[in-house]
Amino acid sequence: MTTKPTILVARAIFPDDLVKLQDRYEVISNQADQVFTPDELRNHLASVDGALVTGSERIDQSALADAKRLKIVANISVGYNNFDVPAMTAAKVMATNTPDVLTDTTADFGFALLMATARRITESEHWIRNGQWDKWSIVHNPLGMDLHHSTLGIIGMGRIGQGIAKRALGFGMRVVYHNRKRLSEADEKACGARYLDKETLLREADHVILVVPYSAESHHLIGAKEIALMKPTATLVNIARGGIVDDAALAAALKAKTIFAAGLDVFEGEPKVHPELLKLSNVVLAPHIASATEKTRRAMIALAAENLSAALEGKRPPSLINTELWQA
Ligand code: DGY
Repeated sequence: MTTKPTILVARAIFPDDLVKLQDRYEVISNQADQVFTPDELRNHLASVDGALVTGSERIDQSALADAKRLKIVANISVGYNNFDVPAMTAAKVMATNTPDVLTDTTADFGFALLMATARRITESEHWIRNGQWDKWSIVHNPLGMDLHHSTLGIIGMGRIGQGIAKRALGFGMRVVYHNRKRLSEADEKACGARYLDKETLLREADHVILVVPYSAESHHLIGAKEIALMKPTATLVNIARGGIVDDAALAAALKAKTIFAAGLDVFEGEPKVHPELLKLSNVVLAPHIASATEKTRRAMIALAAENLSAALEGKRPPSLINTELWQA
């Protein structure tokens, strides 16, 4: 009798997806959804052949210290700044993520947050709930900023950034972008987007949206100096990762109204939110939900499970990050 491989599912997943995994593997699950301590994570990784994790699990040398039989850690997430990829490669542990399946859902949400921020939608709702709406008024009801025919600046022009650009075209927006690598002429044309350096983009854009992956280089990519370049009427939306914006500097700018408003789906040190941001009405806050539709979350779990099963069967996982392990 062949024994089933053992896997860790580090956070809660949909119960029927868990049952499917349990048919194929011995599963250590965490349906209570309590984030493991580093010691708990290291101990679990020591006894499994593969793991499905999320951004809350940091996979580094210390987490892998006792993981002698671990072949793969599959992130249920496209971003993988929770992985120390060189440490994983050194430990011969495959690293995978979930690109593509969440692109449109995340681009939709980026646009929703952009609109909510520019048109003060959540602030208006609070205004009604607080009993402040006693009459319709041309001038006293919350007045926002237009999206249509304004300039959208996208920082980070990967798949999601390009999805946002294509949606912006439908609103008659001018799209400018900044990216480490300039797009091909054909891709620029498809997105109707013009390349700018970061500083010029910040000066020219009416709305700025951040979609860059987090890394040491993108830490505080937007701080006090960068915010100071933006128009006082501009909005800033972050759907990328906490730490790309200096949240303290942003809160100070929003308080001083040196920019109009911000929309944030991600935060430095989340799930904690900078206390100054919580006091402000010109910021729309969301709990890291850009990819959060059931259909997309299921697709992310399915892709992560496909990556995991490929690795455990000795095949190349479809979204392998440390490709050198495959060639080795
Ligand atoms: C992603 O896939 O990177 C989302 O932010 C969820 O972590």
